[in-house]
Amino acid sequence: MKILLTGGAGYIGSHTAVALIEAGFEPVVLDNFANSHPLVLDRLARITGRPVSLERGDVLDTAWLQDVLRRHRPVGVIHFAGDKAVGESVAQPLKYFHNNIGGAVSLMRAMSAVHAEDTTLTPTLVFSSSATVYGDPASVPITESFPRSHTNPYGHSKLVIEDMLAAVCAANPAWRVGTLRYFNPVGAHPSGLMGEDPSGIPNNLMPYVAQVAVGQREHLNVYGNDYPTPDGTGVRDYIHVQDLAAGHVAAIQALLGRSESFTVNLGTGQGHSVLDVVHAFEKASGRPIPYQIAPRRAGDVAQCWADPALALRLLGWQAKHSLDEMCADTWRWQSANPTGYRG
Ligand code: NAD
Ligand code: UFG
Repeated sequence: MKILLTGGAGYIGSHTAVALIEAGFEPVVLDNFANSHPLVLDRLARITGRPVSLERGDVLDTAWLQDVLRRHRPVGVIHFAGDKAVGESVAQPLKYFHNNIGGAVSLMRAMSAVHAEDTTLTPTLVFSSSATVYGDPASVPITESFPRSHTNPYGHSKLVIEDMLAAVCAANPAWRVGTLRYFNPVGAHPSGLMGEDPSGIPNNLMPYVAQVAVGQREHLNVYGNDYPTPDGTGVRDYIHVQDLAAGHVAAIQALLGRSESFTVNLGTGQGHSVLDVVHAFEKASGRPIPYQIAPRRAGDVAQCWADPALALRLLGWQAKHSLDEMCADTWRWQSANPTGYRG
């Protein structure tokens, strides 16, 4: 059974492709490589022992997407493709509205058109949403019924896409949609062959810490140590990308097995501070992580972690990997590939 992965060459998509193969599915990777490298396909083949199909192109091209859907007839689509840098979205909002919202519209239109031609194909979609849709939460842990808000155009794009999906499902009950709100994805494939490969200076904590450990950056800036948290630094729900990948398999299986759509958090339910991550990474790498306390980063919240109970109840899924494993796997990837896929 084929599953089309838009953005499948990216960080989360590539790990999900492996998990799908291990679960007996046949992933088809669709990507324009705007934020990934074609070498990912070689790594996928090395890990899984088989070639993975690639469709190189842009989700904004609706006619081409229809052609891809007609040729492969996937039983489901997982929509990862999009831009994800919060700061860039503030500087270039139209890029985010165009690629993220426009890409989702294009995909929904293509899936609707192909479904209209052949109603034996049920439009089945898993969407990469984010805990960013909770804005600055009033309390933790966060359940799916918390109010949604946005603090930047990236978050706004996720919120709009969630609403568009709800409207499409309301208009056509044939649609089955699983919306997954990821918390903070980190880690890498345990083989050390695949991991996160940010271009330029990393915005996110774990890849920055990994680059400090490998000697590419001098020190970490810790953005604020005066938050109302146990050690004063920001607290997040870091989730191993392998657990996240398993969550996508569970979501696809649930949608193929029953008719209702759902929205669930994918998180561990545990918060870790910036300094917890620094210390865990020092342990995993055996290297010191020098850091300096810097001012708070605009737009950051003090703490954010999931209540993952609904995902367990609906999908039978829960995260298994510890922060130590997240750091150990990140370190294996980073030390074996200090400049990522670019070699
Ligand atoms: P990523 O950038 O590694 O992967 C996205 C992929 O989509 C890339 O391979 C890129 O080349 C591709 N892409 C972008 N625009 C495209 C287009 N128009 N046509 C075809 N391909 C296109 O990002 P990721 O971390 O794997 O994130 C995947 C999804 O999960 C994104 O939608 C992101 O917003 C969401 N998400 C990520 C995080 C995170 O921290 N990584 C957190 C919450 C949600
Ligand atoms: N941090 C530092 N120094 C750094 C980078 C981050 O101290 O160099 C701190 C931040 O202040 C925060 C924590 O590390 O307290 C985590 O920051 P990240 O940038 O790794 O992650 P965020 O929680 O800010 O954002 C991530 C994704 C967003 C997503 C959000 C909610 O980047 O796309 O999680 O899911 F919206």
